[in-house]
Order: sequence, then structure tokens, then C-alpha cells
Amino acid sequence: MKHAIQKLFLKRLTGEHEILLRNAVPSREQIQDKFKRIDTYGLYLHIPFCEQLCPYCPYNKELYRVDLAREYKQAVKKEINSYAEAVGNKAVTSFYIGGGTPTTMLHSGLADIIDHIRCTFNLQCDIHMESHPNHLSEDNLNTIKSMGIPHLSIGVESLIDRHLKTLCRPYTVAGVKEAVGRAVAHGFNCVNVDVMFALPGQTYQEVEETGRALIEMGVDQVAAYPLFLFPYTLMGKSNFNKNHGLFQMLKRRRMMRILEHVFYEAGYERSSTWAFTRKGVPRYCSVTVPLYLGLGASGGSYLKDVFYLNTFDTDEYIKAINERRNAIALSLDLSEKMQRAGWLYWRIYETQFNKSEYMRRFGEDIDCEYGRYLRFLKRLGFLKDDGEQIVLSDRGSFWLHAGENIFSIDYISKLWGMSKRESWPEQVSL
Ligand SMILES: C[S@@+](CC[C@H](N)C(=O)[O-])C[C@H]1O[C@@H](n2cnc3c(N)ncnc32)[C@H](O)[C@@H]1O
Ligand code: SF4
Repeated sequence: MKHAIQKLFLKRLTGEHEILLRNAVPSREQIQDKFKRIDTYGLYLHIPFCEQLCPYCPYNKELYRVDLAREYKQAVKKEINSYAEAVGNKAVTSFYIGGGTPTTMLHSGLADIIDHIRCTFNLQCDIHMESHPNHLSEDNLNTIKSMGIPHLSIGVESLIDRHLKTLCRPYTVAGVKEAVGRAVAHGFNCVNVDVMFALPGQTYQEVEETGRALIEMGVDQVAAYPLFLFPYTLMGKSNFNKNHGLFQMLKRRRMMRILEHVFYEAGYERSSTWAFTRKGVPRYCSVTVPLYLGLGASGGSYLKDVFYLNTFDTDEYIKAINERRNAIALSLDLSEKMQRAGWLYWRIYETQFNKSEYMRRFGEDIDCEYGRYLRFLKRLGFLKDDGEQIVLSDRGSFWLHAGENIFSIDYISKLWGMSKRESWPEQVSL
């Protein structure tokens, strides 16, 4: 049933029966050609190391080793060089460092990579970086600031010791509160905290208390994600089927409503489907910009009509780059219809956008392609449309994203699951 609905939506929205990524590695000339049609772009840098591997985590990561991190640094610098000619002086308008855990490399090459990016690319933006609470000593926070990183995200996950234990997080509530306090006192432009909700056995009251405690701690932004179970993770293998029912969806919705209430009352605004930002603070954001170049193992690049995905295997990534081969393992050509659907997916995630942005990108009024869907969603109370700006309501934001998840959890599981199993997959069908 779910697959039939997926297929129907896929056909309607993209005109395709399936999405097929192939191991068609582009040449230097082809990549240069892609950049000729791009004015500005975002950068994503993936650091695939963690000091422990959490049982729920779907991301591409492996255990940190200092020798491997140093080799990785050299390879990333060479990958940066390989794109230098293609990107030329085009402006980089967003730069996001994610993982894994970027702060594992604070003392084994991260500064060197960032300096190299500054020297090679035309950075016209601030840097946003993820961090682990256990890495936020005074010294490390000074190091992060000295690298010129003004936007910091911290993976807190829970403020209840029982849930931290379920998630196998290696700290206590008291310890993580101190770490966040130190970060807040350090004067970053934006401190974001990631927490998860709809955890096994979590009560509504605990969700409310967590929201209030985060506000009291002075964080600028909170990204609250429901616990998603991916079938290839340790937690997903044993519980996958328990996480998708209607009851679970309604529980997530009620918990999100509690968070909305708590954060709006304290003067925060919704800044994406899952995030609330204090009014007037620049928002901490990950990769949702329309076009981006991904660096590192599992780095993905979206260059208008093509999507490239680097190999997930760190050793293979380093080997390929050192042999002056391309680290791209899979590529997907995107038809005009797929580009439009992808664009809309991310704008819905951001919860608001201007119709003129669509016109600028695709040279056509958004109502030509999506007018009847937008009118239908407006009637359901999912969005407001004043003729230029589309703003999702809280209800619309939740349910539209819940709908998107029917696709994305499945797609991510297939694409990332296969990319973890095979370094250079022949093809992946989504
Ligand atoms: C790369 S991690 C954050 C940085 C660092 N690695 C850490 O764990 O502290 C990104 C965030 O994604 C969220 N996340 C990871 N796995 C998730 C899952 N299965 N469901 C929902 N959110 C998840 C967590 O909130 C996590 O902090
Ligand atoms: S949640 Fe963070 S620390 Fe845990 S495995 Fe994932 S990326 Fe690493």
C-alpha cells in the first residue's frame, strides 16, 4: 500500500517511475560544464569520524583514529584543489560542516582544511558547524572561535538521564548542561541545540520540561527531531515497524505542539520544520540551499540538473583522491520536473518561500505547475498564500513533512544503506 502511494506521488511530482542513481563518474570537463551554469553555491564538508557510534544514527561515520584523520585531511585538501578551476571565483553563500562529528578533528586538521577552503574558494558567508557536547571544553571552544566559526550546533539529544542511557549517549544531564552553558557564554552568533523527542517511554511532561530547560539555558535555536528509525541502524533493526503507525504520528504531533507552545511563548520563531530560533538571531542552518558542492566521504553535490554522491568508504575516498581519481561514486541526472519537485521539497522544509524565487530559478510562475496543489493545501489550512509569499502553518509544516518522510526515510535507507555496504555501487534504485 505504502509503496503504491509512493509510486503514484513519484510519477505525479517528477514524471518518473523510479529514481536510478548510476556509477557514471563525470569527467573534469563535465563538472566544469555544470559550474558554468551556476552563479553561487553552498559548501558542505563531511567529517566521517565519531568517538562512539550511536545505535540510532543513520549518518556516514566510523570510529575516530588520529592517523586516519590526518590522511583524510590531506585527501580533502586535494579534493578542494580538484574543484578550484571549475568553481573559479563564484561566491560561496553558505558553508556547513557536518558529520559524523566535526569536532573530533579539532586538533587533527580541521583548521588546516578550513584555511585551505578560504584560500581556494570565494567564501562570502559564515561557517556553521556541528559539535559533540563532550568536546566543548573552554580550550576547545576557544579553538572553534579562533577558526572563525560563529554558528555552533550541539548534539544534546535529551535532558533526562534515563533517555540519554537508552540512546547510549556518553554523558549525564548535569555534564551536558555545563557544556551548553560554556558554549552560550562564549558569544557565538548562534548556538543551536539538537534534541530528539518521541523517545521510547518519553512522556509529554518530559517534552515540555526539556523545552523550558533549553530556554532557561539561553540557547538561540533548538532543532527538535522525532526519533526516526532507519532499518540499517542497530535500533532500527529491532524496532523499525513500531515507529511508523498512526499512533506514533499522532504522538509526535502532540509533542511538537507542546514544543511550539513553549517556544512561541518564549519569543522564538519557527525557522524550519523542526527548528525554533530566538527572534532576531541569525538562524543556524544545515544544507538546504538550492545548489551545493559536497566535500569528503559521502559528500553530496547538487548542481542544478545533476546530483553526485561521493563514496561513503573513508579508505576508498582517500585512495581515489590520492590516485587523482574522482571520489564520486553515484550520479543522478535530474529532469526539469525532478529539479522542480526537489526545489519545492526543500522550501517546504524551510516552511516559507517567495514565489518569485521559483520564477527566478525556473523562469515560470509556480502556479503553472503546482497551483492546484497549493490551492488545495490552502483550503486544508496547511499554508497561507498572499500571492507572493507562501508560509506553512504549524499544522501544514508537520503533516507535509510527515508526508515527505514517506519518501525520504525510505530513500535515505536505500541510498545510504547501499552506500555503506558497497564502496562503489553499480547502481541504486530508489
Ligand atoms: C551528526 S549528529 C550531531 C553531532 C554529533 N555527532 C553528536 O552526535 O553530538 C546530527 C543530529 O541528528 C539527529 N539525529 C541523529 N540520528 C537521528 C535519528 N535517528 N532520528 C532523529 N534525529 C537524529 C541528532 O539530533 C543529532 O544531534
Ligand atoms: S549521533 Fe553523532 S556521535 Fe552518534 S554516531 Fe551519529 S554522528 Fe556520531
